[in-house]
Formats: sequence, structure tokens, C-alpha cells
Amino acid sequence: DQYLSEINSFQTKNADELEAFRIKFLGTKGIIKDLFEEFKTVSPEEKRGLGKVLNEFKQAAESKYQEVKEGSEALDDSAGSDQDLTLPGQGFQLGSRHPLSLVRKEIIGIFNKLGFHVAEGPEIEDDWHNFSALNFPEEHPARDMQDTFFIKKGGEKGDIALRTHTSSVQVRMMEAGKPPFRAIMPGRVYRNEAISARAHCFFHQVEGLYIDENVSFADLKQTLFYFVQELFGEGTKVRFRPSYFPFTEPSAEMDISCTICKGDGCQFCKYSGWVEILGCGMVDPNVLENCEIDSKKYTGYAFGMGIERITNLKYQIKDLRLFSENDVRFLKQFQSEM
Ligand code: PHE
Repeated sequence: DQYLSEINSFQTKNADELEAFRIKFLGTKGIIKDLFEEFKTVSPEEKRGLGKVLNEFKQAAESKYQEVKEGSEALDDSAGSDQDLTLPGQGFQLGSRHPLSLVRKEIIGIFNKLGFHVAEGPEIEDDWHNFSALNFPEEHPARDMQDTFFIKKGGEKGDIALRTHTSSVQVRMMEAGKPPFRAIMPGRVYRNEAISARAHCFFHQVEGLYIDENVSFADLKQTLFYFVQELFGEGTKVRFRPSYFPFTEPSAEMDISCTICKGDGCQFCKYSGWVEILGCGMVDPNVLENCEIDSKKYTGYAFGMGIERITNLKYQIKDLRLFSENDVRFLKQFQSEM
């Protein structure tokens, strides 16, 4: 009776109190369970009357539990809760591709269409692959053209350094296979330069190599011309200026008509209307021989460009340091480009 009145008068809006009620009366160690255990031990005559009372008692507790529970659920949805379920959810921030990745991908895409595949190599190189095989003579000032970060001087395989260009990958490829070769080598390269808006101690290159019988400078020009039309748009002009690289002969630097001012003259092209974007030339026969390729039978061309330079032009970026600072305000601007 005492329990029955406790059940009947029970009221709460608090979920913890309701749970305590359930455990006390309806739980596996609760009062009702105990009473039913005791019930098993009474005589058959007593069972009849007692059984009815017990069942009523159990039902009372169960229906009370349901009633109070439903009441408190109704409350939770309205004033009783401090959560506004109608608020819109919090969106999550989408990342964006890095501008250098975007441009690298675009460059690779264009050369893929021309049948060039992608080759990669190590960033830590020995003297042979970075310099000697590429026809840089020992102690020759040409080595100073690229300020090198040395890791170890005079090791078993000569000096060990961070590669200064991905031409080292060309050497590895030529050594490992047989012509014809037609590949591009994207990758990070390192040079010991003071960091400023226009120089950094590392940057990214895409170099290219094509070696076969009867490859001529005309093939080189046409390939690069096509590349530039694809990347910067139809009508972009190109011009070649004589230059020098130890590994190519003849060598040239290629300019394109400034894509920002369309040749009228602006800050980007230093008011000349032209911007230099790459170095190129016919692979020097010495390089072919160093890689055990018959230079009487095969000729080839090579070229190399900095991805940063191209990206600056495409997106009018004036400071190289932006590429490695990872300021989200800078990176976010490339969100729409995938
Ligand atoms: N390796 C040269 C550089 O890093 C670029 C280049 C590649 C020039 C191939 C000519 C031919 O400056």
C-alpha cells in the first residue's frame, strides 16, 4: 500500500528522477521483481489473491512510468530544453588545391596529350646525376650557376646535395632504359638563395625530355608553341633567345608575350611586353654518351620551367613567399578551381 501510494503520487519533469523511479520499481533488482521472487514461495491458496494484487501493482508502476515519461518528452521539445532544434547545422570548411598543384596538374595534362609520361626521382642526389653526367665539368664555373645545398662533400659517389633541377631525373631515366624517351619530370628543387619576393630556397620545376631518331630543334619549337597556346590561350606569342646550359647545345630561353598586359607593358614583364618562362635546347651529345646512348643515332631536346613562374603569371601573384606561407586567406582564393 505504501508503495502503491508512492507510485500514484509520483510526478517529475526530471529525466534522472524518472530513471531512479524505473530502477526502484521496475529494474531487474527492483521491488516488483523481489515481490515476484517472494511470490514463488507462498502456498497455492495464498497465490490466487496475492497474484492479482501483484499484477495490479506492476501495471500501476508501468503505466505511471510511461505516463511520466511521455510528459517529460513533450516538455523536452519545447520550453524545458535549452536546445533550439530549428537552428541550421554548422557547415564544415572545404579545403582547396594549392595553386602550384593546380598548375602542375594542368602542365602535366597538356604534355600527356602529346604522349609524354611522368617520371620522378630522388630530391637528394649525387654529383653524377645532378652535375657530371649533365656535362658540368669538374671545377667549372657553370656549377656556380645553381647555388647548391651540399649535404656531404666527397662521398663514395662524389658530393651529395639537394638536387638543383630535375634534369637529374632525365639522367636516371636515360641510364635505366633505351630510347625513344618522351617524358616530363615534375618535382621540387633546391637552391641556396636568400628568400625574397622573387627567390626562394626551393621551388618546383617541370622538365621535359624527348629522345629519338631525327628529333630536331623544329620539333622542340612546335611542341613548346603548342604547350603555350594550351596553357595561356590561343594567340600567345613566343620568342627564343640564344642562351647557355652545359647539357644542351644549342640552348635557348623562351619568352612569351605578357599575358597580363597583352604586350603593352606592365610590372610583370617590366614594361618589355615579354616574360621568360623556360630554358631549352638540343641535348648535348656528351650527355647522351654519358648515359650510354649512341649520339650518332639519336638526338633529342630538353626543356625546363619553374612552376612558380607560370603560376605567378596565370594568377598575377607578385610574391613567391605566398606559396609556402600557407595563409588560408591566400589559399581560399583557389577554392573554385579543381
Ligand atoms: N635544368 C635547367 C635549369 O634548371 C633548365 C633546363 C632544362 C634548360 C632543360 C635546358 C634544358 O635551369
